[in-house]
Amino acid sequence: MMMVAKLVCTIFIRSYLWVLLVPSLTRAMESDITCLRSLKSQLKDPHAYLSNWVFGNYSDGYICSFFGVYCYRSNYNKVLSINLGGSGLQGEFPSGVKLCSFMESLNLTGNNLSGTLPSVIFSSLPFLVTLDLSNNNFAGNIPASLSNMSYLSTLLLDHNRLTGSIPSELASSTRLLQFSVAHNDLKGPIPEFTAGNISLSSFDDNLDLCGFPLDPCSGSFYYMAIIAANIAAAAFFPVGACYGWLYDGKKQNQRPRRR
Ligand SMILES: *[C@@H]1O[C@H](CO)[C@@H](O)[C@H](O)[C@H]1NC(C)=O
Ligand SMILES: *[C@@H]1O[C@H](CO)[C@@H](O)[C@H](O)[C@H]1NC(C)=O
Ligand SMILES: *[C@@H]1O[C@H](CO)[C@@H](O)[C@H](O)[C@H]1NC(C)=O
Ligand SMILES: *[C@@H]1O[C@H](CO)[C@@H](O)[C@H](O)[C@H]1NC(C)=O
Ligand SMILES: *[C@@H]1O[C@H](CO)[C@@H](O)[C@H](O)[C@H]1NC(C)=O
Repeated sequence: MMMVAKLVCTIFIRSYLWVLLVPSLTRAMESDITCLRSLKSQLKDPHAYLSNWVFGNYSDGYICSFFGVYCYRSNYNKVLSINLGGSGLQGEFPSGVKLCSFMESLNLTGNNLSGTLPSVIFSSLPFLVTLDLSNNNFAGNIPASLSNMSYLSTLLLDHNRLTGSIPSELASSTRLLQFSVAHNDLKGPIPEFTAGNISLSSFDDNLDLCGFPLDPCSGSFYYMAIIAANIAAAAFFPVGACYGWLYDGKKQNQRPRRR
């Protein structure tokens, strides 16, 4: 009786686990298909670069022949990288890419993408090594969550309309070797990059960035304070009164005090 119960249990557990596992494996592959499907639906594609992104052929690796899509293996629907640089794409950052969760490289440079960079997405792409969003029209702040991608070694955000300051969290990444935020509207202090060797040109043409490798912040604030004080002095104190005040001071110094 015991033996039979055990056998039934084993069979039940095995078939139950199988039932549990199969959909989760299928789902893992389907998420990359859903990723590309949503990417296509979220972007405007006036030059029809994504015209061979046709869904519905469910053969192994059918998404791997899509324009700009590279898979881990050509017969396996798992996205390694997406490069849609210079394709004239329009719209906001395609949030669907977060479903391509094993992706190592995303390159959307030289398109016409706008809106803000949604911070939640970058925490869902833990294996990203390269992120190139340069030469678009992205606005708003640089999300601190970019620092959650612990393998990120190339981050290019240059030639956009990003504002605010550079999140200090980014600088603590030891893997970040190539970094640029040139040609944006950033301001404030540049955090001290752990990986070092981030060149001067990475910060070119912004609103008001300061600190190494640019001019020190304290200096620029100090000189701005002096300039502001001079302007205030010139505006609020008549020259005559100033002169009289100085002259009086001198006289008082020369004259020995009685009492
Ligand atoms: C599905 O796509 C693969 C790879 O692109 C291709 O070889 C195959 O012929 C396609 N199958 C159908 C039914 O379209
Ligand atoms: C992104 O793609 C463009 C071509 O579309 C290429 O020139 C550029 O080097 C790529 N960026 C990175 C970081 O590899
Ligand atoms: C960029 O997109 C805007 C609309 O979002 C459009 O008006 C503009 O012409 C586009 N620029 C280019 C170079 O395609
Ligand atoms: C990084 O991810 C963790 C957990 O997902 C989250 O709690 C944290 O806020 C994220 N950090 C940033 C800077 O977004
Ligand atoms: C720093 O970067 C410069 C030019 O980009 C390069 O020549 C130099 O070898 C780099 N130094 C280190 C320590 O990586």
